[in-house]
Amino acid sequence: MRIVSAVLAVLTVVCAIAACTPAGNQTPAPKGPPAVWDDQSDPDWRHRSQFKASMRHMWIAANRIVSAGRGDKRPNYDEIWPAAADIARRARMAHNFWSEIARTVDNLVLALDDDDRPGASDEFRALGAACDGCHLATWSPTYLHITPNTVEAWKQNRIKLGMEMEHFDNPPPEIPNRVLMQKLWKQYQAAQVALQDWKKPQVKSELAPVAEAARAQAQLWGQVADNAAQLAELARAQKRAGMPEAYANMSAACRACHAAWAGPERPIHNPMPWDGPTD
Ligand code: HEC
Ligand code: HEC
Repeated sequence: MRIVSAVLAVLTVVCAIAACTPAGNQTPAPKGPPAVWDDQSDPDWRHRSQFKASMRHMWIAANRIVSAGRGDKRPNYDEIWPAAADIARRARMAHNFWSEIARTVDNLVLALDDDDRPGASDEFRALGAACDGCHLATWSPTYLHITPNTVEAWKQNRIKLGMEMEHFDNPPPEIPNRVLMQKLWKQYQAAQVALQDWKKPQVKSELAPVAEAARAQAQLWGQVADNAAQLAELARAQKRAGMPEAYANMSAACRACHAAWAGPERPIHNPMPWDGPTD
C-alpha cells in the first residue's frame, strides 16, 4: 500500500527551509509607502503569511469590540456584532481543522483494531488533507512553494512548473509553534511508514501525540470561537450583560496560546482588556 499525500509535497520543501542555517542577517530593502491605500500591485504578496494576517485582523476586531463596548454608555452593538462574528469565523476554521485531525486519528485507531486497511488508509489521507487544508489557508504563497516561475507558468496556462527551489537565507525563527509543527510532521511521516508496513502499535504510538496536540489546539480555538460567537449573539440581542465575561474568556485563550506557542522572539499584540480609559 502506498499512501501519496500532497502534504508531503508541500512539507518536503519546508523541511529544506528548516534545514537552512538559522536566521541570516539579510535585511529587506526599505520600502516606501504604497502609492494608494489598497496597494493591489504589491510585489511582495508571495511572502505574506495568511496566518499572521488573520491574527492581526482578529486583534483589530477584538479592539473594536472593546472600543464599542467599554464604559457606561450604551455599547455600539452594531459594531460589536460583525467584529465578534469575524473572530468567531476565523477561530472556528482553525478549531475545525484541529478537531478533524483529532477525529481522524480516533477513526484510524478504530480501523486498525478492525484490521481494516482501506479504512485506515482513508483516515490517514483525511489526516493529511486536514493538515494541508490549514496550510493552504494560512501559509504564505512562498511557503506553499509558489515561485516567480510558478506564477509565470500558470499565467501561460502551463502546468509543468519546473519545480524551481527558492533559496532562503532567512527562515522564520524557531518559535514554539513552528517546533510543534516540525514534530507533528515527523510523527506523521513515521506513522505513514508504519502504516505501509501494517505495524499497528507503531502507527498508534506515533499518532497519539498528534491527536493530543490537536485536541489542545482545538480547545484553545474553540474557546475563542465559542466566546466570540456568544458576543455576537449578545450584540445582536442588544444585551450588555455577559459581554465583559465573554470577552475576557475569549481573550484569555488568545493570551494562553501566545504564552505557550508564540515565544519571546515575536512581539505579540494581545487584545486590549475590557476595562480602561474611555477617551
Ligand atoms: C491556538 C493558538 C493561538 C490563538 C488561540 C491565538 N493566537 Fe495569535 N498567534 C499565535 C501564534 C503562534 C502567533 C505567532 C505567529 C508567528 O509569529 O509566526 C500569533 C501571533 C499573533 C499576533 C501577531 C501577528 C504579527 O503581526 O506578527 C497577533 C496580533 C495575534 N496573534 C492576535 C491574536 C488574537 C487577537 C487572538 C484571539 C482573538 C489570537 N491571536 C489567538 C497563536 C494563537
Ligand atoms: C490551524 C492550522 C494548522 C494546522 C491544523 C496544522 N498546521 Fe502546520 N503550520 C501552520 C502554520 C500557520 C505554519 C507556519 C508556521 C510558521 O510560519 O512559522 C505551519 C507550519 C508547518 C510546518 C513547517 C514548519 C517549519 O519548519 O517552518 C510543518 C512541517 C507543519 N506545519 C506540519 C503540520 C502537520 C503534519 C499538521 C497536521 C498533523 C499540521 N501542520 C497542522 C498551521 C497549521
